[in-house]
Amino acid sequence: MAPTPRPRIDPSRLRSRLWFDNPDNPGMTALYLERYLNYGLTQAELQAGKPLIGIAQTGSDLSPCNRHHMELAKRVRDGITAAGGVAFEFPCHPIQETGKRPTAALDRNLAYLSLVEVLYGYPLDGVVLLTGCDKTMPACLMAAATVNIPAISLNVGPMLNGWSRGERTGSGTVVWKARERHAAGDIDYQQFLDIVASSAPSTGHCNTMGTASTMNALAEALGMALPGSAAIPAPYRERGQAAYATGQRIVEMVWEDLKPSDILTREAFENAIVANTAIGGSTNAPIHINAIAKLIGVPLTCDDWERVGYDIPLLVNMQPAGAYLGEEYFRAGGLPAVIAELIEAGKIHADALTCNGRTIGENCREARTWDREVIKPYSEPLRERAGFLNLKGTLFDSAIMKTSVISREFYDRYLSNPNDPYAFEGRVVVFDGPEDYHHRIDDPALDIDENTILIMRGAGPIGYPGAAEVVNMQPPGALIRRGVLSLPCIGDGRQSGTSGTPSILNASPEAAAGGGLALLQNGDRIRIDLNKRQADILLSDEELARRREDLAARGGYPYPASQTPWQAIQRAMVEQLSEGMILRGSDAFQKVAQT
Ligand code: FES
Ligand code: MG
Repeated sequence: MAPTPRPRIDPSRLRSRLWFDNPDNPGMTALYLERYLNYGLTQAELQAGKPLIGIAQTGSDLSPCNRHHMELAKRVRDGITAAGGVAFEFPCHPIQETGKRPTAALDRNLAYLSLVEVLYGYPLDGVVLLTGCDKTMPACLMAAATVNIPAISLNVGPMLNGWSRGERTGSGTVVWKARERHAAGDIDYQQFLDIVASSAPSTGHCNTMGTASTMNALAEALGMALPGSAAIPAPYRERGQAAYATGQRIVEMVWEDLKPSDILTREAFENAIVANTAIGGSTNAPIHINAIAKLIGVPLTCDDWERVGYDIPLLVNMQPAGAYLGEEYFRAGGLPAVIAELIEAGKIHADALTCNGRTIGENCREARTWDREVIKPYSEPLRERAGFLNLKGTLFDSAIMKTSVISREFYDRYLSNPNDPYAFEGRVVVFDGPEDYHHRIDDPALDIDENTILIMRGAGPIGYPGAAEVVNMQPPGALIRRGVLSLPCIGDGRQSGTSGTPSILNASPEAAAGGGLALLQNGDRIRIDLNKRQADILLSDEELARRREDLAARGGYPYPASQTPWQAIQRAMVEQLSEGMILRGSDAFQKVAQT
């Protein structure tokens, strides 16, 4: 059944008319108009009732993951023009995951703020959001949620598959593997660099199911990107064609007045959570998706992630949870094929509206899977119940564990005790930030063995600042040489989506905000019980109270001084990872373009 067409708005209702064609205020109109004519635009283009469409350019030489958007934007522009719109491309604050110190996550809210100002303050009727690298989709969709003008996102696409000596090398994931071999002395520094570089063979973002592939798949699951567009590898011809179609479509979205608030509903967010489990998505997803939800006014918590997402199976066989990379995933059918499986299993709200004006059910129900090695049927998944657990206790109020990356080795060593299944206790060794870890991890005095739990604190949104991706800590070299490749890790920082370590992370509140991790001392014992979703310090209430008083008397958990004005501003305003790490109060500005 064809969807009922939405009524079209009258050109007099275009937002851009307030700037460029406002007879009530000829002085301002002339002032607004004249400078946009100076490079060749005509008065007719700006006053003929054509939608003016922004192209939010996140690519640049400083952001190589998104750099291909500098080419793709031309095809977006062609599509906008062909559909009767006028394109205005503008730069966004760069957020390169692998290039920004101290961490790209510090800049997500900065990019969000600046994009809100652009979308709100300039004559734009709609916007194409050029996304890709990890934080670019979140920053862009957060801004679209706040301003609520018609918006559509276009991913830059993953790089081609990486190969080294006949084996697939996936972005990020190969780093974690190669650094184990480097630490064990199997390969030297140059061999280490060569193996890692092999994972980046072309333009595009990470080719694993890291945070970029995850967030862009979720943009599609939310309905904010054209169906089938997220997984197309960056250099493929289909990528340019999707750019053209996206440009065409945003013009229609303006005429249909199809806004983010029409698409980003509770149902859409639940669809994204379900999809995230099925694709083996990143532990960064709850942070960013919760942030977008808050900004559009939909309540969403980490409990929702467990309730809606935990029981869903893992269907996509892609690194780090599986074996393959972006090219195979695209050829197997990409997200629409995954959604089709989930619809058949009754796990998707099929009536959720998407940016092409159709529901996600209409878009994906008939999608086929072309390679069952890469996208599994719902009835024969790679792993059952593959979602996130949300743990609580005296260590923190919320921390996420990605169960789909629990290895056989990890399960056997820590979770398989028949008298205490899915629970373990251990002695902690505590590190205060990543530098402390790097300096001391190989110190024999720490006496780290198989029963040690590594703690990373001081790595949250305030402590680091921005929250560092450092919780997946490698054991000391001596332990690795004995074959112990991973230890349980817990921390108030984040972890790269490309890492296959089952850490307990995003702990909120962080140590710097008075969370339980701040009370730990080397040698304390803690207990993790996955069945009960509990994570506790094995100390008496009196001892915990005494330590809490001590900490307060010392002025709280110490962290390094801010090095830039933005670090200081964000630290004073930022909420915790479980709350989406948004700036306090930013959710009070929903739909600013309507006011
Ligand atoms: Fe940019 Fe992975 S580093 S997408
Ligand atoms: Mg990352």
